[in-house]
Amino acid sequence: MAAKSAKTIFVCNECGFESSKWNGKCPECNAWNSFEETTPKIIPKTAAKAAPGSVGVGGAAQTFSLKEVGTTDDIRYDTGVGELNRVLGGGLVKGSLILLGGEPGIGKSTLLLQICGKFNSALSILYISGEESLRQIKLRAKRLGVANEKLLLASCNDADSASDTVFANKPDIVIIDSIQTMHTENANGTSGSISQVRECTNIFMRTAKTLNIPIFLVGHVNKDGGIAGPKVMEHIVDAVLQFEGDKNYTYRILRAAKNRYGSTNEIGVFEMTDSGLAEVPNPSKVMLEGRAPNISGNCVACVMEGSRPILTEVQALVTKSTANYPARIGTGLPFGRLGILLAVLEKRAGLYFSRLDVFVNIIGGIRLDEPAGDLSLAVALISAVYDKPIDTENVSTMAFGEIGLGGEIRNVPSAAGRIREAERLGFSRCIVPKACLNEKLPKGIEIIPITHINEVLGIFGVIHT
Ligand code: TYD
Ligand code: MG
Repeated sequence: MAAKSAKTIFVCNECGFESSKWNGKCPECNAWNSFEETTPKIIPKTAAKAAPGSVGVGGAAQTFSLKEVGTTDDIRYDTGVGELNRVLGGGLVKGSLILLGGEPGIGKSTLLLQICGKFNSALSILYISGEESLRQIKLRAKRLGVANEKLLLASCNDADSASDTVFANKPDIVIIDSIQTMHTENANGTSGSISQVRECTNIFMRTAKTLNIPIFLVGHVNKDGGIAGPKVMEHIVDAVLQFEGDKNYTYRILRAAKNRYGSTNEIGVFEMTDSGLAEVPNPSKVMLEGRAPNISGNCVACVMEGSRPILTEVQALVTKSTANYPARIGTGLPFGRLGILLAVLEKRAGLYFSRLDVFVNIIGGIRLDEPAGDLSLAVALISAVYDKPIDTENVSTMAFGEIGLGGEIRNVPSAAGRIREAERLGFSRCIVPKACLNEKLPKGIEIIPITHINEVLGIFGVIHT
């Protein structure tokens, strides 16, 4: 029996899948060459056998009625960065473990070092880096203008001694940069391997809960955009924040993928500048900068990023094709969607694209994944085909709505919120699905309700034949 339990198992580095034999390709997540040999933890027989409801080896846990459990009002810290507070659900909760994931170079270390400078100066912060030397951190802090007297720095790769340092200093907030560089003797494998990442995360979880202090863990993202290391890590932590952005643009979006203390609907928008990350409280305005009203092929769309409406411009260019197969090129939108819309416009509105190359672009790195973006894309395409701008010097238009295969315009969620955002930014009219008139809509903007894609041709002054 003892010999059997000492047997090694093979664990996938990417997803944590366990197998008794080595596999070249993980049957769970399809990763190649990701299996690592490890010895499973031996669970005491008594604990394993304990029946549900019986007293476990650690003794029975104390129980409380819901009424008895107290919540203090003062459990959230203001991070000093409004956009981060918003994503955290209103501030940083004491005793929470937060994973900040993102691609290398996206700005994770920059964001966390910046909050060190903006945090209430009465609170102490411990920044433990396993990636950069203290000198490098100091240089970055200087560049970012961070001069917090109560900021303590440590360069360390050992999770146990990092935890001891936290216990010894009892700071108000801890930053671990990054979890993939941490190592503990209580697990097998090299730093960044599944067993190491899992065990190190557990160490910091215990530290955060025991001392009741918030700990930020920086986590790297692998090729597919998932946080490198086991999925189990995401189960352990209280919140998973993802820092995203297109390398070609300076805008960054902070998104909560999981949050035990708030909504996952909120996003924070930042811009990477020479002096670090700047908050962007008004993303629509930024996305619409440089817009020229009298160009054909353009239409402003409204996408919901969580509960936040963001206006962005959709551009379409249609040219005569000389190739056998006309080009269909689109960035920032699901490719199949463009094909479907072109087919609907041909069948239901009589616009023929078979001899035309079609290029579509969504400005500013925002993605038009929502079906609500269909109508703005259709308006942009119609405008491009007829070479007629939808806007003039005095008229600015925003459009949203889903387009069905019959050419009908369908309702989408948050119509009032989208219209309000357009009104706030000074737009003069919105083309919307007629069905959304059932909602209470803002009054200060012209609403053009439509039920079929043909009606857009009327707005351009073109008669459908
Ligand atoms: P960093 O925070 O080191 O990324 P991560 O920790 O996610 O790997 O960000 C590094 C990038 O940010 C780097 O490419 C340079 C850029 N940057 C600026 O543009 N301005 C600045 O003030 C700073 C500090 C960094
Ligand atoms: Mg970093």
